[in-house]
Amino acid sequence: MTAIQPHGGTLIEQFDANYDYTSITKEIELDSFALSDLELIGIGGFSPLTGFLGSADYQSVVTKMRLADGTIWSIPVTLPVQEVKANELELNEKVKLVYEGSVFGVITVTEIYQPNKIEEALHVYRTDDKNHPGVAKLFERPEFYVAGPIVLTKRVNRGRFQSYHQDPKETRAKFAELGWKKIVGFQTRNPVHRAHEYIQKSALEIVDGLFLNPLVGDTKSDDIPADVRMESYEVLLENYYPKDRVYLSVFPAAMRYAGPREAIFHAIVRKNYGCTHFIVGRDHAGVGDYYGTYDAQLIFSEFEEGELDITPLFFEHSFYCKACGNMASTKTCPHSKEDHVILSGTKVRAMLSNGEVPPPEFSRKEVVEVLIRGMQERVEA
Ligand code: ADX
Repeated sequence: MTAIQPHGGTLIEQFDANYDYTSITKEIELDSFALSDLELIGIGGFSPLTGFLGSADYQSVVTKMRLADGTIWSIPVTLPVQEVKANELELNEKVKLVYEGSVFGVITVTEIYQPNKIEEALHVYRTDDKNHPGVAKLFERPEFYVAGPIVLTKRVNRGRFQSYHQDPKETRAKFAELGWKKIVGFQTRNPVHRAHEYIQKSALEIVDGLFLNPLVGDTKSDDIPADVRMESYEVLLENYYPKDRVYLSVFPAAMRYAGPREAIFHAIVRKNYGCTHFIVGRDHAGVGDYYGTYDAQLIFSEFEEGELDITPLFFEHSFYCKACGNMASTKTCPHSKEDHVILSGTKVRAMLSNGEVPPPEFSRKEVVEVLIRGMQERVEA
């Protein structure tokens, strides 16, 4: 069996640290969201995208979940700019992409267009409610989109977690070296709790390796910060996972909170990293009550089998059941809710910031220690 093909058939690689942009004068200031997107396009995480979407692709992605050529793509990857900037740009010219004073890439401008953000919100997020963090972000960003192919010229420094930063090319090589044929990807934006561990290990029973791929790009301000989460993964892996079956590597994307649409996107991108399977549990990439518990699983049936070319592994809402004395789900446990230990993320965050310890049935003690320390350091800072 050969390695799984990247989405669209070719792994895009558009990183060139020696690219000479000295003669380019115009620049576009990126936000951290666009910086993540730029990097992911450049390293092939977003294959087959070679740049920020033009209007034909954008329109097709928004309304049909496909690029204009029919390739499945569920989230618009766009570069928003203010009207003054849009007026300054000319077609076919090269423009530097700058973040906090440093050039990270160059775009060749092929189009500048004004999107219909309400339509984008209603299709992609299934709501135009600005209390939804993804929708809020969409409307907060500037009004015009610039399209065109990019070159990534500089990599983002991820500080202490740099060693966990691997490109799709590298993870693919690593999986081959490890001899893994079936690899399950796991997306997360939260510290790993027992339900995560349960579904990961259940999946691991039927594949060769687990690609634990926490998202470290932008998240909403009340999510647990990435550095604290990374430390929680380290202690968990150290104490509870077989070392030769798990590969921890960060996912530099920003979180959209687009639920079902983002589950498809997350699966496609993990395919680019070399995964053959992808875990979709309860309310994947969801927020608040905007999506049904299993909407992010149902959306996979909108595509022909094999079209996505990565196998989703669906898991029911999992919990610890005191009567079973085990982790379980409604699929495997006959007991009533009273026996189930279920805590919401909001509840856990509130407990942690009050110095309260979530029960061991919810979270491993080593993880809880890291989280309490991380939260306290933040309060004191
Ligand atoms: S997400 O926004 O990245 O999806 P989170 O880190 O909480 O959030 O979830 C990671 C993955 O675990 C997702 O596939 C999600 O559906 C799944 N998941 C989280 N909690 C549970 C649970 N209690 N039972 C089953 N699946 C879960």
